[in-house]
Amino acid sequence: MPIPERLNPTFAFTSQPATDLVEEARKHLIVALDVPDAASAAWLVGQLDGTCQWFKVGLELFVAAGPAVIEPLVARGHSVFLDLKLHDIPNTVAGAVRSATALGVKMMTLHAAGGPAMLAAAKSALDGVAKPPELLAVTVLTSMDQAQVNAVGLDRSPAEQVAMLAKMGLEAGIRGFVCSPKEVAALRALTGSEGVLVVPGIRPAGAAIGDQKRIATPADALRQGASFLVVGRPITQAPDPAEAAEAILKEMAEAL
Ligand code: C5P
Repeated sequence: MPIPERLNPTFAFTSQPATDLVEEARKHLIVALDVPDAASAAWLVGQLDGTCQWFKVGLELFVAAGPAVIEPLVARGHSVFLDLKLHDIPNTVAGAVRSATALGVKMMTLHAAGGPAMLAAAKSALDGVAKPPELLAVTVLTSMDQAQVNAVGLDRSPAEQVAMLAKMGLEAGIRGFVCSPKEVAALRALTGSEGVLVVPGIRPAGAAIGDQKRIATPADALRQGASFLVVGRPITQAPDPAEAAEAILKEMAEAL
């Protein structure tokens, strides 16, 4: 079966047709390194070295360990998704995008709510960069329900706000979005095949749900239009993280 175009955005992949679907799935699984220090991250990456290509560094690890935590990942040929959800004045965000690009990260997040000028400045910061990282806009945090959305002065439903911010992001030239499994089909309809949709809240069939509310299995999320899946605890807290990751890759391969 040919690889669907939505799983083949041009920035990260070779033009070779994939012959092995598990190998192809490996290019679309991101492990969230949600750990408090560099030593724990290094242990996990060591466990997953031959199994996983992508790692997400978020606020907890970055604030504790700094850019030094990214360098060894890049040096070993891993792909890094820096999830700092930037939200500041355009000049400051553009500077942060340049700094992250210099570290060699391949994807990074920023808040769509920063507005069109902030998104445009972030995009412009990548002008002339040979292999620019993908900028991913976060629309509405999945922790925001109707009451939270109203509390920040918005009259819309969370779903309406997601759609509004996604359209604004697309107009500013952003084609990547982080979204929950619940939103992925609607965002895929908005972005078309060009969209790079990164989806957390993934749980293999039978796994513990934890604090996630809007979940999908790996195969379901891909079928609904995800480009990349972000998985944390089902891999990082498994007795054998590599074995857990391989099982998820097999589930993903079923949907390719
Ligand atoms: O452990 P788990 O698989 O739930 O981890 C999911 C990862 O994705 C975490 O790093 C979490 O912060 C992140 N994330 C999320 N929901 C969002 C955005 C990011 O779970 N809406």
